[in-house]
Amino acid sequence: MRYLLGLDIGTSGTKTVLFDEEGKTIKTANYGYDLFQPQAGWAEQNPEDWWQACVRGIKEVIEKSNVQVSDIKGVGLSGQMHGLVLVDKKYNIIRNSIIWCDQRTEKECEYMTKVIGKKRLIKITGNPALTGFTLSKLLWVRNNEPDNYKKIYKVLLPKDYIRLKLTNVFATEVSDASGMQMLDINTRNWSDEVLNELNIDKTILPDVYESIVISGRITEKASELTGLDVNTPVVGGAGDQAAGAIGNGIVSEGIISTVIGTSGVIFAVTDTPRFDKEGRVHTLCHAVPNKWNIMGVTQGAGLSLNWFKKTFCAKEIEESENLGIDIYDILNKKASKSKPGSNGIIYLPYLMGERTPHIDPNVKGAFLGISLINNHDDFVRSILEGVSFSLKNCLDLIKDMNVSIDEIRVSGGGAESNIWKQILADVFQYPLTTVKASEGPALGVAILAGVGVGIYDSVESACSKIIKGNAKVSQNTDLKEVYSKVYKVYNSAYPKIKNI
Ligand code: XUL
Repeated sequence: MRYLLGLDIGTSGTKTVLFDEEGKTIKTANYGYDLFQPQAGWAEQNPEDWWQACVRGIKEVIEKSNVQVSDIKGVGLSGQMHGLVLVDKKYNIIRNSIIWCDQRTEKECEYMTKVIGKKRLIKITGNPALTGFTLSKLLWVRNNEPDNYKKIYKVLLPKDYIRLKLTNVFATEVSDASGMQMLDINTRNWSDEVLNELNIDKTILPDVYESIVISGRITEKASELTGLDVNTPVVGGAGDQAAGAIGNGIVSEGIISTVIGTSGVIFAVTDTPRFDKEGRVHTLCHAVPNKWNIMGVTQGAGLSLNWFKKTFCAKEIEESENLGIDIYDILNKKASKSKPGSNGIIYLPYLMGERTPHIDPNVKGAFLGISLINNHDDFVRSILEGVSFSLKNCLDLIKDMNVSIDEIRVSGGGAESNIWKQILADVFQYPLTTVKASEGPALGVAILAGVGVGIYDSVESACSKIIKGNAKVSQNTDLKEVYSKVYKVYNSAYPKIKNI
């Protein structure tokens, strides 16, 4: 049997998973790290923390499985998208990474729009200027930390920094590179036009490949640290959303994915690049050759529940520790004790501004409609509902772009909650399916690695072999009326609160 290793460098931690060639999980390791918030709306991480988590994770899965290292035929890399990693000539990190949810770059976005124009930016890069994407972060460093900017030898994305540590090669691949906003997503290559207009030296960018291409091989040093064999191929991989889509079999038009992770995403595959005129959803290259994707993103999905837990659930946390019950099981139970509509509370999940549909880095979150009848259960439920409404905003936009919807698959940490899945199905008024494979992005990049090293013929054929459909959550049609009413109120709230 041959084996493939998938790494997912996430926001809360790195997940390392060893799979056999049939896609079965052999061993998993998780290592967490910190998120730094030097100011409200800023978010940074230390790339060395990611690397340490990868080293420990790879070592652990190798040690704890009975697999011969020489049978591990390839490594695939996935990770949080858009993060700015700056490396100097000696391959050292220049500053902490400014990560995807950081919102400090509004001025830089205005500048990009002024110089290139919104329409042209959308046509070339698939998106209007976005605070979350890498380019505006790079311009922020140029404007605010000129000494750091001068030191730049290469600009990398989070997973591509791990590639550098594993292989000594500077490379990226199309799905993640699209989220840097320097790629022409039509030609799947760096855009000279964008780079020239903004006076960015192309040589600071890594080589860009299709996601199934072998980009480097494990070095002696990385082999000593991780236990992987020297020369094991490391394949392009993908940004976490494209990787998660592949891990859930989202490789052709018609099957839509919805993810409740730290952020929430609606993801659809298309055979040609398709754009929203206003750029309210992202258009990016998919990790499958000759395919693109449309993606709507809500910034604060799992992030919202996690924040609420940390801030308002001391009693529940204590109970979970005393009884040995998962805190999220307790919160799910509380949500199910409230009612559809959360007894009048509407939660707006804008804890880190919002992308789809508002593209507004400054908007803040809110609980609206609180009255004396409300209790803690209502607040918990309103979060699950608010995030679901925000995902419905994404779905509605994608529907308006004439993307066919034959099936909606749900995944991510939030999909482990039955009540959250049910609320989502009820708000969407669509049935949702889940697949048996639960490793999402790590499985997705293991599949890409398998294609790269010749174990599978194509991403599509590997997915149809490995990823099987599972349970279905049907929508409750009795709730159609109540949820469409609350959804209308939810949608009317943003224009009223955005300037407060
Ligand atoms: C996608 C996005 C997030 C991050 C973190 O555009 O910003 O999904 O990749 O998971």
